[in-house]
Amino acid sequence: MSENRQSILFVDDEENVLNSLRRLLYDEPWNLFFADSGSKGLELLKQENIDLVVSDVRMPHMDGIAFLKQVKTLYPHIVRVFLSGYADRSAIVTALSEGCAQQLLPKPWNVDELKAVIRNALLQAGELKKKNIGLQKIINSIDFLTAAPQTYLEIRKCFLHIDTVSIESLAEIIEPDPSISAELLRWANSALFGQMQKVDTVERALMILGIDIIEGLVISHSVFTSVTSVSRPETGFSLKDFQAHSLACGILAKLLISRVAHEEPKNIDRAFTAGLLHDVGKLVEEGCLTDNFRKVVDTARQKKSLLLEAENEILETTHEEIGRCLAEWWSMPSFFVNAIRWHHNPHLCKMNRDIVQAVHVANVLVQRFGLGASGNFCIPEACQDSLEFFELTEDELPSIKESVIYYLS
Ligand SMILES: [Fe+2]
Ligand SMILES: [Fe+2]
Repeated sequence: MSENRQSILFVDDEENVLNSLRRLLYDEPWNLFFADSGSKGLELLKQENIDLVVSDVRMPHMDGIAFLKQVKTLYPHIVRVFLSGYADRSAIVTALSEGCAQQLLPKPWNVDELKAVIRNALLQAGELKKKNIGLQKIINSIDFLTAAPQTYLEIRKCFLHIDTVSIESLAEIIEPDPSISAELLRWANSALFGQMQKVDTVERALMILGIDIIEGLVISHSVFTSVTSVSRPETGFSLKDFQAHSLACGILAKLLISRVAHEEPKNIDRAFTAGLLHDVGKLVEEGCLTDNFRKVVDTARQKKSLLLEAENEILETTHEEIGRCLAEWWSMPSFFVNAIRWHHNPHLCKMNRDIVQAVHVANVLVQRFGLGASGNFCIPEACQDSLEFFELTEDELPSIKESVIYYLS
């Protein structure tokens, strides 16, 4: 048993499942622990320093949901994964949405997928360990956002097999969700995507928008809906203005990156969705940390400061960090992760620099233009390098503002 290795606890009442996991993973660089019931799992957790728990759902006495709920309460720093068969699906979706576990491993499993999910979860556990306790507690206490929205999970699965995925199969996933379908149709018909003819089917909308836009719209719509559907006490943060800020930022990021002659077309789409989602960490704060977030907003108001500064003071972390954890946890593509993490400091970002800079400048300019609001009580400054990268001059700002307003309407 190595002290330096990360430790995983597997809990399943079927001995053959535990044995096959033991066989599959014996040569991986992890300490493995096995328990055939939830109560034995809890005993092991008292004795060992576990980083990741993988639990079956259907077990006698204490089922996997009850077990992982206890793990979450007693050891919030431990990452939790469900191991489940197809028959458990509806219970699992509910349990995931309640934050009992952060991820799902199908049973029977594909060996590569199993190892990939475990590696990813251990990476997250390692990152969480390195972070300050404040952030760790915040991330683990998030109940209704830790599980990625179901439609998003399903389209991600489709995108993993991009060579074989068809528009029809994507439409089949999306069509049962009327609000996401309506959102995709709205954008497919918007002037931003230059359609002359009316788009009235989801399939056609999917063809027009393309994968990156679909992914971004599904995730941003799902997150926004999940936060706004729960009524909470007032925090002084307007979700309506925030949504307008995010939309304007997405549109402007797309317009800005289109100015760079060498830019890849797919980065133009990506800048749009990264702009839509850049402040997702604020939604987490508003939705999950209501009392503390009210203090953040009050502090920013009193000091006439950026929300970011007040977050550092009250939460000891920022919406960039919280948003990044969520984006990584949901296995979002790296351009999202980087835009969410570095949109206030693009010079520190090593990857996806063009997209991150577009979001950075767009974020500053839409605040100068007064389009929406994102909780700041002063207007942030844009990095000079980023302004120069897009060859922006003061003279053209009024016409840029007009373009954003046009595409917003
Ligand atoms: Fe921000
Ligand atoms: Fe922003």
